[in-house]
Amino acid sequence: MKKILVFCDPGIDDTIALIYAFQNPEIEVVGIVAEYGNTNRRFAVRNVQYLLSLLGKTDVPVFSGAERALSGEEPVAHPTIHGDFGLGPFTPPDTDESLRENFCDLIQLLERYSDELTIVTLGRLTSLGMLFLLYPNLMSRITNYHIMGGAFFVPGNVTPVAEANIYGDPTAALIVMKFAKNITLFPLNITDHIYITPELAEQLDVVGCEGILYPILDFYYSFYQSQIPDIEGSPVHDLIPMIALTNPEWFTLKNYLIYIQKEVGIARGITSADMRPYETLPPAPIHKVATKMNMTHFEEHLLDIMTRKPD
Ligand code: BDR
Ligand code: CA
Repeated sequence: MKKILVFCDPGIDDTIALIYAFQNPEIEVVGIVAEYGNTNRRFAVRNVQYLLSLLGKTDVPVFSGAERALSGEEPVAHPTIHGDFGLGPFTPPDTDESLRENFCDLIQLLERYSDELTIVTLGRLTSLGMLFLLYPNLMSRITNYHIMGGAFFVPGNVTPVAEANIYGDPTAALIVMKFAKNITLFPLNITDHIYITPELAEQLDVVGCEGILYPILDFYYSFYQSQIPDIEGSPVHDLIPMIALTNPEWFTLKNYLIYIQKEVGIARGITSADMRPYETLPPAPIHKVATKMNMTHFEEHLLDIMTRKPD
């Protein structure tokens, strides 16, 4: 059983990834940190709470993460991609809980699970980065990270050259790359090419989420279609690091020296890796990058997990 702590900014693809994680019998979600990114922090927390209520999982602790990047700049949400409140056409009910600041409570959970935990990040790396600054000893006990982020020598999404999760807080990303042990990065190089088609979306059937699954994916697809009219489905970036937890054999991983640009301007958030085919001295941290994914069983597996009925 994979025990995971998820950092996310739901967000449509974050929501699909969370539903997948709860449906997969080999994954146990021990906690969720929701922070700014695709939407603001308040809506991100609210979306997680709403999802947990639909899934009947309100016992899973939710933590309110960062409200903005380490630089303090104003966060920029993405309503055209993820909807005004981060969940496509939906406006989840508000609760007082959405406003509660409880990040400190996360420490107990990290202490309890650290040795057996995989941290999966689906958004900006701000909250995780802060943990490395404040709790370096505790964080040194965590030895597995799956991170959705980066674009290595391929076009970005939020800018021509940068991927949104890294661009959103490049300083935090550098901190995480420097201090986290055993990172596997899942960049746009693969996530941009793995689609949920409308036909597949129609077949997903998760108890409790029947009313939201298709509408949010349809909303997401409409955005991608408005950008690329003949696209066959929508990429679901955040699902990929989650799927890799229990299907590692589908992925080709390579060790690379990772560089991240934090300059202001067009270079901000560029990720690059030393892919030269000979040994170089490591001036930057080395991490695993997923460079290929074998798609043979993707649809079959997704349908299997996303139509599973509770025992
Ligand atoms: C990432 O940015 C967000 O829009 C998605 O949720 C995903 O985490 C892709 O670049
Ligand atoms: Ca995300």
